[in-house]
Amino acid sequence: MSEVLLEVDQVLDENETNLRRICKHICEKKKRQCKFSALKNCDYCVEHLAFNKETDHVGKRVICPLDPKHSVYEKNLEKHLKKCNSRIKYLGDFDIKDVNLKDDENLDFERNLDYKLNIDLNNKPLLKNISQDSKTYKQLNENELRAIIEFVNELDEKFNLYELEFDKLDDKFINEELTKKGEFHQKHLKQISSIVSHVNVLIDSNKGEEEESCCLVELGAGRGKLSCWFDQSRRNKIKNNNSNSNIKNCNIVLLERGCQKHKFDSLLKQNCQEDNSEFARIRIDLKDVFINKIPLVKKSSKYILYGKHVCGCATDFSIRCLKKSLEDQNENKIKFLGFILALCCHHVCEWDYFCEVCLVGRQVDVKKIQHLPLNLFLDIKDPKLEEYNYSLNTKLFYYVESEVTLENSMIYATLQYNE
Ligand SMILES: C[S@@+](CC[C@H](N)C(=O)[O-])C[C@H]1O[C@@H](n2cnc3c(N)ncnc32)[C@H](O)[C@@H]1O
Ligand SMILES: [Zn+2]
Ligand SMILES: [Zn+2]
Ligand SMILES: [Zn+2]
Repeated sequence: MSEVLLEVDQVLDENETNLRRICKHICEKKKRQCKFSALKNCDYCVEHLAFNKETDHVGKRVICPLDPKHSVYEKNLEKHLKKCNSRIKYLGDFDIKDVNLKDDENLDFERNLDYKLNIDLNNKPLLKNISQDSKTYKQLNENELRAIIEFVNELDEKFNLYELEFDKLDDKFINEELTKKGEFHQKHLKQISSIVSHVNVLIDSNKGEEEESCCLVELGAGRGKLSCWFDQSRRNKIKNNNSNSNIKNCNIVLLERGCQKHKFDSLLKQNCQEDNSEFARIRIDLKDVFINKIPLVKKSSKYILYGKHVCGCATDFSIRCLKKSLEDQNENKIKFLGFILALCCHHVCEWDYFCEVCLVGRQVDVKKIQHLPLNLFLDIKDPKLEEYNYSLNTKLFYYVESEVTLENSMIYATLQYNE
């Protein structure tokens, strides 16, 4: 037991302790007893089980080495480790550890600046330090932040960073639904409407001669809302004979490392079953996924990679998902239709994982720096693709008004065959 002296008013009332058995742990920092309920047959709560030196009638409880939130009896640990939800599960041949983490020709931030923008960081000692120490925005002091802002302004003067094309599209069905929702949902649905519409244009402009199956792979899908709206809108078009596409079925794969509530999954699953489409949610980190080998992608005639606000370095992993999967395709089997990624807080990414892109900022206000939506100069060159006579057409544009969200730019990439 800790020797911290408890302040009188922070000692829990004896009666309360008796009614509900409270964890015995004393939090030294907070100078008070833990307020959580103790586990059955134990003096401690789940969080503080490690402090339990005693053994109850079944045995000693220990913390699961894979997840400190789990605790098990020591004698059951081995069994638990085999089924613990936090264990690293091998999911199949598309699950390749760190495959999208970095790439061989990845340039570091400094070289990137020098090479792409002709900027020498040696004249900017503060920036050089930030880059060398691989600092994230959160670790910067005010002077460093100011240096970045000045730098961004300088880049803006040189390159007109914010003069992007505006290409907002509207999905009729989603726009109608949108009017029935509150402000928060409207904000997201306005973005979703434009993204879904861009996806549909992409599908329609690649109409094959025969009926085909398309696979939509959503990156960092969270609860799957974007794909769910895509699916509903598609069904609505078919129902109203409004569909231009000759896509026979549309398979949907959600890639997400978290275990969010899967509110939209059941609807997607149910809808897909109706027209022999297939649905899969794969719990995986985007840094580890090899798109071409996902069974549903392999089964489909074509695929699209898309996502909305995947956050931080997941943007880089997403771009590398694209690169790696394109590199792997041979000339006759190019199935890739396009890559559509609505960007967000790229500022929390880490220098080390940058994809071969240059990073430049938009919003230049110290207070807003946490929400700094950063733009990318995209220049994905791929020697292997060129070998096959393909090149990647990339665009960066605003897909909704900045009033809807400041994270309103989108990367759009399609393949072009060079004869
Ligand atoms: C801001 S949320 C957006 C969720 C969803 N796309 C949407 O628009 O509602 C970012 C999502 O990306 C996921 N994510 C971030 N990094 C990831 C990674 N490395 N691998 C897989 N998912 C990731 C997070 O778990 C989270 O669900
Ligand atoms: Zn406790
Ligand atoms: Zn566990
Ligand atoms: Zn974000």
